[in-house]
Amino acid sequence: MKTDVSNRFIWFKGEILNVNDAKINVLAPTAQFGLNVFEGIPCYWNDEKKQLYAFRLHDHYERLLKSARLLQLDCPYTEEDMKKALIDVVIANEYSENLSVRQTLFVDGFGSWGSEGPVDMFVAPIPKGKTGSEYNKKGLNCCVTSWTRINDNSLSPRIKCGANYINSRMGQREAIRNGYDTCIFLNEAGKVSEGPGSCFFMVKNDVLVTPPLTDSVLESITRDTVIKLAERIGMKIIERSINRTELYVCDEAFLCGSAMEITPVLSVDRYVINRGEVGRITNALHKEYLVATVSGTQEWNTPIY
Ligand SMILES: Cc1ncc(COP(=O)(O)O)c(C=O)c1O
Repeated sequence: MKTDVSNRFIWFKGEILNVNDAKINVLAPTAQFGLNVFEGIPCYWNDEKKQLYAFRLHDHYERLLKSARLLQLDCPYTEEDMKKALIDVVIANEYSENLSVRQTLFVDGFGSWGSEGPVDMFVAPIPKGKTGSEYNKKGLNCCVTSWTRINDNSLSPRIKCGANYINSRMGQREAIRNGYDTCIFLNEAGKVSEGPGSCFFMVKNDVLVTPPLTDSVLESITRDTVIKLAERIGMKIIERSINRTELYVCDEAFLCGSAMEITPVLSVDRYVINRGEVGRITNALHKEYLVATVSGTQEWNTPIY
């Protein structure tokens, strides 16, 4: 049975339910304070093999558990429990298409923002074509947002928690209001950090450059994949701080993340990059990325069926 997004099965607190029956108490800290940690786990359908592959599943769970640990959440689930829940709910929905699986640990009950628990979990597979429009564009016109990226001493970007996305929201809303597709944040030191839901790379003189993880950047799995794929194809990669004006004169740029994969940046603050066309290196990396996600031949691919 193919289930539509608003009427599909979700794994919720140990049961597989229709999403409309998965209810959270309005006073729960997750509802009041965004007290949850989550992953968006991409799964790719390989039509030849009639198989769905979760991409870098172990790395997603490692990050999820790290986020929970940093927030001192009392997580009752192991990596094996989380993996089983994901597989069970995808199979229940009988999906044979690309997915983004939202796997969230949330603070339930009647506590407050300081509560350690009770922690529970939901796992919600979402067909990829139905994720946000900014993720489905062929290229992006970006601005540098006037909002500063959160930093490790306020709200650490290393923690993938719901509340962090309020900062992303401010930048994204400003970008849309002013006629851009999305934004790039600068950090407290005024250096380039990342997009609202993605990491940033640029190409200058055939070298791939990305900000270091200490420049207010999420420890992105796609960022790591891009670095590894670039190494495989013999590219030089540098992790270093990037100045704002470097964005305006780079040869190519792209944002990357599990949801947007590798999406070219065609302009920043109306400074056109690569004549507004998708760059050769961006294209080559995206091709490598698609093979790595869907082939089923890599240690990164976990079969679901
Ligand atoms: C702020 C931010 N940066 C980067 C990323 C990309 O991370 P990943 O590649 O692990 O999806 C995301 C996506 O979740 C994000 O929200």
